[in-house]
Amino acid sequence: MDQTTTYTPALPRVDAAHPHGQYSTVAKIFHWVTAVLMLVALSFGFVIKYIKDEPKMVFYAIHESAGLTILMVALARLAWRFMSPPPPMHESIPAPMRRAAAAVHHALYAILIIQPILGFVATNAWGFPMQDATAYLGLINIPAVIGETPWLARILSTIHTILGYTLVVLLAAHIGGAVYHHALRRDGTLMRML
Ligand code: HEM
Repeated sequence: MDQTTTYTPALPRVDAAHPHGQYSTVAKIFHWVTAVLMLVALSFGFVIKYIKDEPKMVFYAIHESAGLTILMVALARLAWRFMSPPPPMHESIPAPMRRAAAAVHHALYAILIIQPILGFVATNAWGFPMQDATAYLGLINIPAVIGETPWLARILSTIHTILGYTLVVLLAAHIGGAVYHHALRRDGTLMRML
């Protein structure tokens, strides 16, 4: 008799609203657009301080435009999530793992909203609003919400940096979790977003 065990990956769990166990197409677009914009915002954000002279302005413009777009996408995405809840998780996933995933997702949503606002207000407080060389998408001047306030700018920028590193840790947990579900648990979790 053949003793070889073959493992077949579990299929995502289905319900009436998710007959294929998948996130909606709109939710998938929001997710992957956010992922690309995050890559841009984080990589440009971390290297700006090493760039000298004129290209620095281009780096600021790209970082800030990506960041502000992330805020708009996050707000639209949250509204969509309330109207179209995600598909059910696979029943084999234990409660502590569900709670950990939800905690990471909530923290990511919170940072997607708080981080761009902090960055935006910080630029205003530095007396360096999103106008002219750093206009949104190089085209749209965004009015400043506050005038130059260096003491506030220092505080906001420090929090912006701390949240930047926090985000990297959360993304490592998020991506690590997706790989763990896909490669080790084989419970169909990653397939729901593809
Ligand atoms: C989710 C969106 C955003 C993320 C993930 C993000 C992330 C970061 C990170 C990681 C840094 C580097 C911190 C450091 O090394 O000290 C940074 C710097 C910065 N960010 Fe953001 N940011 C976002 C949105 C924004 C927005 C919307 C603005 C302004 C409109 C902004 C303005 C700045 C500025 C001015 C710096 C300082 C760059 C420097 O001079 O070194 N950020 N950001």
